Amino acid sequence: MKLSDVKIVQLPKFFDARGNLSVVEELKEIPFKIERVYWIYDVPGGESRGGHAYRKNEEFIVALSGSFDVILSDRNEKKRFLLNRSYYGLYVPKGLWREMDNFSTNSLAVVLASTKYDANDYIRDNSEFMLWNK
Ligand code: TYD
Repeated sequence: MKLSDVKIVQLPKFFDARGNLSVVEELKEIPFKIERVYWIYDVPGGESRGGHAYRKNEEFIVALSGSFDVILSDRNEKKRFLLNRSYYGLYVPKGLWREMDNFSTNSLAVVLASTKYDANDYIRDNSEFMLWNK
Protein backbone atom coordinates (compact mmCIF):
# COMPACT_ATOMS: atom_id res chain seq x y z
CA MET A 1 0.00 0.00 0.00
CA LYS A 2 1.10 3.53 -0.66
CA LEU A 3 0.69 6.86 1.07
CA SER A 4 -1.25 8.03 -1.98
CA ASP A 5 -4.08 5.65 -0.93
CA VAL A 6 -4.61 7.63 2.29
CA LYS A 7 -7.57 9.97 2.27
CA ILE A 8 -8.83 12.80 4.46
CA VAL A 9 -12.61 12.52 4.27
CA GLN A 10 -14.95 15.37 5.09
CA LEU A 11 -18.01 13.99 6.88
CA PRO A 12 -21.53 15.39 6.68
CA LYS A 13 -22.09 18.11 9.26
CA PHE A 14 -25.36 19.51 10.44
CA PHE A 15 -24.69 22.83 12.11
CA ASP A 16 -27.42 23.69 14.55
CA ALA A 17 -27.88 26.29 17.27
CA ARG A 18 -28.73 23.35 19.58
CA GLY A 19 -25.37 21.73 18.86
CA ASN A 20 -23.75 20.25 15.76
CA LEU A 21 -24.01 16.71 14.47
CA SER A 22 -21.78 14.66 12.16
CA VAL A 23 -22.21 11.13 10.93
CA VAL A 24 -20.31 8.32 9.22
CA GLU A 25 -21.76 5.21 7.57
CA GLU A 26 -19.91 2.06 6.51
CA LEU A 27 -19.40 1.60 2.77
CA LYS A 28 -20.38 5.23 2.24
CA GLU A 29 -17.85 7.71 3.63
CA ILE A 30 -15.56 4.80 4.47
CA PRO A 31 -14.76 1.99 2.03
CA PHE A 32 -15.11 -0.95 4.46
CA LYS A 33 -17.58 -2.62 6.80
CA ILE A 34 -16.98 -1.70 10.44
CA GLU A 35 -16.09 -4.72 12.57
CA ARG A 36 -14.71 -2.88 15.58
CA VAL A 37 -14.62 0.54 17.24
CA TYR A 38 -12.02 1.61 19.79
CA TRP A 39 -10.97 4.92 21.22
CA ILE A 40 -7.84 6.49 22.68
CA TYR A 41 -8.18 9.00 25.51
CA ASP A 42 -6.39 10.39 28.59
CA VAL A 43 -3.11 10.46 26.66
CA PRO A 44 -0.46 12.14 28.85
CA GLY A 45 1.36 15.11 27.28
CA GLY A 46 4.23 14.09 25.02
CA GLU A 47 3.10 10.45 24.66
CA SER A 48 2.79 8.68 21.34
CA ARG A 49 0.71 5.65 20.32
CA GLY A 50 0.87 3.19 17.48
CA GLY A 51 4.28 2.47 16.06
CA HIS A 52 3.12 -0.50 13.99
CA ALA A 53 1.47 -1.56 10.74
CA TYR A 54 -1.44 -3.90 10.09
CA ARG A 55 -1.28 -6.64 7.51
CA LYS A 56 -5.04 -6.62 6.84
CA ASN A 57 -6.81 -4.11 9.05
CA GLU A 58 -8.00 -0.81 7.56
CA GLU A 59 -8.93 2.11 9.78
CA PHE A 60 -10.82 5.37 9.81
CA ILE A 61 -9.64 7.77 12.53
CA VAL A 62 -11.59 10.79 13.80
CA ALA A 63 -10.56 13.38 16.39
CA LEU A 64 -13.90 13.51 18.22
CA SER A 65 -12.40 16.05 20.59
CA GLY A 66 -9.17 18.06 20.61
CA SER A 67 -6.39 17.31 18.16
CA PHE A 68 -3.51 14.96 17.40
CA ASP A 69 -1.26 13.97 14.52
CA VAL A 70 -1.26 10.67 12.64
CA ILE A 71 2.08 9.91 10.99
CA LEU A 72 1.91 7.42 8.14
CA SER A 73 4.73 5.90 6.12
CA ASP A 74 5.12 3.51 3.27
CA ARG A 75 8.49 2.22 2.11
CA ASN A 76 9.40 5.50 0.48
CA GLU A 77 7.93 8.40 2.36
CA LYS A 78 6.41 9.63 5.58
CA LYS A 79 3.57 12.11 5.98
CA ARG A 80 2.02 13.83 9.01
CA PHE A 81 -1.75 14.43 9.12
CA LEU A 82 -3.26 16.81 11.69
CA LEU A 83 -6.74 15.85 12.85
CA ASN A 84 -8.46 18.67 14.73
CA ARG A 85 -12.10 18.68 13.61
CA SER A 86 -14.76 16.12 14.46
CA TYR A 87 -16.14 16.26 10.91
CA TYR A 88 -12.94 15.08 9.24
CA GLY A 89 -11.70 11.50 9.25
CA LEU A 90 -8.50 9.91 8.04
CA TYR A 91 -8.80 6.71 6.00
CA VAL A 92 -5.74 4.53 6.63
CA PRO A 93 -5.41 1.55 4.28
CA LYS A 94 -3.73 -1.64 5.46
CA GLY A 95 0.01 -2.00 5.14
CA LEU A 96 1.18 1.43 6.28
CA TRP A 97 3.38 2.17 9.27
CA ARG A 98 1.35 4.35 11.64
CA GLU A 99 2.14 6.45 14.67
CA MET A 100 0.06 9.02 16.58
CA ASP A 101 1.42 11.92 18.63
CA ASN A 102 0.89 15.57 19.66
CA PHE A 103 -2.30 14.71 21.53
CA SER A 104 -3.89 17.84 22.99
CA THR A 105 -5.23 17.78 26.55
CA ASN A 106 -8.53 15.88 26.72
CA SER A 107 -8.31 14.80 23.10
CA LEU A 108 -10.37 11.81 22.06
CA ALA A 109 -9.51 9.65 19.04
CA VAL A 110 -12.10 7.20 17.79
CA VAL A 111 -10.94 4.47 15.41
CA LEU A 112 -13.32 2.52 13.19
CA ALA A 113 -11.63 -0.69 12.10
CA SER A 114 -12.34 -3.19 9.33
CA THR A 115 -11.35 -6.33 11.28
CA LYS A 116 -11.77 -7.80 14.75
CA TYR A 117 -8.76 -7.42 17.04
CA ASP A 118 -6.02 -9.85 16.06
CA ALA A 119 -2.57 -9.52 17.63
CA ASN A 120 -1.13 -11.48 14.69
CA ASP A 121 -2.22 -8.78 12.26
CA TYR A 122 0.31 -6.35 13.77
CA ILE A 123 3.81 -5.75 12.45
CA ARG A 124 5.55 -4.04 15.35
CA ASP A 125 9.10 -4.16 14.07
CA ASN A 126 9.92 -1.47 11.52
CA SER A 127 12.63 -3.47 9.77
CA GLU A 128 10.18 -6.38 9.41
CA PHE A 129 7.70 -3.88 7.96
CA MET A 130 10.25 -2.68 5.43
CA LEU A 131 10.91 -6.28 4.35
CA TRP A 132 7.22 -7.21 4.27
CA ASN A 133 6.20 -4.11 2.33
CA LYS A 134 8.37 -4.78 -0.72
P1 TYD B 1 -2.30 -1.27 20.59
O1 TYD B 1 -3.04 -1.45 19.32
O2 TYD B 1 -0.96 -1.93 20.70
O3 TYD B 1 -2.14 0.28 20.92
P2 TYD B 1 -1.20 1.37 20.25
O4 TYD B 1 -0.86 0.87 18.89
O5 TYD B 1 -2.00 2.62 20.22
O6 TYD B 1 0.01 1.54 21.08
O7 TYD B 1 -3.23 -1.75 21.77
C1 TYD B 1 -2.89 -1.55 23.12
C2 TYD B 1 -3.46 -2.70 23.94
O8 TYD B 1 -4.87 -2.79 23.79
C3 TYD B 1 -2.90 -4.05 23.52
O9 TYD B 1 -2.53 -4.75 24.71
C4 TYD B 1 -4.02 -4.78 22.87
C5 TYD B 1 -5.27 -4.09 23.36
N1 TYD B 1 -6.29 -3.96 22.30
C6 TYD B 1 -7.33 -4.86 22.27
O10 TYD B 1 -7.45 -5.78 23.10
N2 TYD B 1 -8.30 -4.72 21.29
C7 TYD B 1 -8.20 -3.75 20.37
O11 TYD B 1 -9.10 -3.65 19.48
C8 TYD B 1 -7.09 -2.83 20.39
C9 TYD B 1 -6.95 -1.75 19.37
C10 TYD B 1 -6.16 -2.98 21.39
